[in-house]
Amino acid sequence: MKRHLLSAADLDRDEALLILDTAGEMRSLADRPIKKSPALRGRTVVNLFFEDSTRTRISFEAAGKRLSADVINFSAKGSSLSKGESLKDTALTLEAMGADAVVIRHSASGAPHRLANSGWVRSSVVNAGDGTHEHPTQALLDAFTMRRHLGDLDGRRIAIVGDVLHSRVARSNALLLATLGAEVTLVAPPTLLPVGVETWPVTTSYDLDATLPKSDAVMMLRVQRERMNAAFFPSAREYSRRYGLDARRMGLLDAHAIVMHPGPMIRGMEISADVADSERSVIVEQVTNGVAVRMAVLYLLLSGSGEAPETSENNTTAGTEALA
Ligand code: NCD
Repeated sequence: MKRHLLSAADLDRDEALLILDTAGEMRSLADRPIKKSPALRGRTVVNLFFEDSTRTRISFEAAGKRLSADVINFSAKGSSLSKGESLKDTALTLEAMGADAVVIRHSASGAPHRLANSGWVRSSVVNAGDGTHEHPTQALLDAFTMRRHLGDLDGRRIAIVGDVLHSRVARSNALLLATLGAEVTLVAPPTLLPVGVETWPVTTSYDLDATLPKSDAVMMLRVQRERMNAAFFPSAREYSRRYGLDARRMGLLDAHAIVMHPGPMIRGMEISADVADSERSVIVEQVTNGVAVRMAVLYLLLSGSGEAPETSENNTTAGTEALA
């Protein structure tokens, strides 16, 4: 693997599959009574979060700890320094503390790239979400979850629905899913599709009802009000009516199809409560799989080898095959 994970586009098919297969082994570790491996003992992982987060920060923390790394949480929100200075000064501090990996979330698109390419730090940089740009480990955990339910993703049809314009999850998923051979349809009102979407490896639609019967998985996106500086749709009610997933719409899905959401959900807006809690929903499982995927990413970046870790004497080959 390369030194950093900044974009889903950094991964070719073999690298993506290596992470997903390694995550399968990590996931089997999570199912054991003692969930810990010594693989990253003595290594330091810093979680550098300039933007609010619940599940992503906790997920990286759990991932580092399960591999026995020292995990330092650095919440940089509230700094009075300007963004450029703040990032540089923080980076120099991390370097002085001997960080081996820096997991960064920032409201500015490109901040992880700046950190990785600045020469300020020697560590591996993992993008945990930058502005409206990318969130590659979310795409990996989504692909991992889809593979557990759908098998090989080649030719599988995935609908990504909602606020694509402000979603780093949508972009990273579109890139990774294309690498894995899946066919992605973005469903959104025209105002919530990004300029240049025609260059993405996807098709687009404004019609959710027409897309659902053809989908193997449907991924609902949160409406990101905190990133909106204008009115992108007439009202919340109108948005839900056209683009929300409720029980009637879920009934249009094929029997095998799954419902996903990266969280945090706004129940009643993009997804109804009964759909979120339904048997087709894999939303809680996505969180569990997130830890396994982040363990795999940290392990592969920091261990410096493409080989699978020793997680126990007799279970080193229990990968995704055993879980499929
Ligand atoms: C997403 C994010 O932060 O980009 N959440 C997450 O990482 N689980 C999506 C969102 O905030 O809506």
